[in-house]
Amino acid sequence: MTSSVFETITPDAFAYLDRVASTDPGRSYKLRMLDELAIRAGETVLDLGCGPGTDLAALADAVTGTGTVIGVDHDRASADAATDRTAGRGNVTVRLGDIHELPLPDDSADRARTD
Ligand SMILES: C[S@@+](CC[C@H](N)C(=O)[O-])C[C@H]1O[C@@H](n2cnc3c(N)ncnc32)[C@H](O)[C@@H]1O
Repeated sequence: MTSSVFETITPDAFAYLDRVASTDPGRSYKLRMLDELAIRAGETVLDLGCGPGTDLAALADAVTGTGTVIGVDHDRASADAATDRTAGRGNVTVRLGDIHELPLPDDSADRARTD
């Protein structure tokens, strides 16, 4: 008989990110991030490495309907998940791309964050 200490199931990265964000330290950290960004209504905010869209809704609420949130991720599955999660939000767009070569014109954002 053989046994292994290694997991044989691939962890679900999106569920993991959601779980981390929903812990007390995770929530506290995310709130502090929003506070530090000091986002104002109408601004354009970049979420660099947005993953499955963990923070896009909170950022979209902060910019209000007059602002814009742009999530960027180089992983197609993440960008697709982020697009699905924010489908009902007209002020969020998700781009597939590398944050070192942003698929955006210069000076197109007021705030940017990465996590
Ligand atoms: C730890 S996850 C965090 C996701 C999300 N920001 C959150 O807090 O849950 C980091 C994300 O950054 C993306 N990423 C890493 N390097 C990148 C790069 N050079 N360009 C675009 N996305 C990148 C990964 O694909 C991944 O989705």
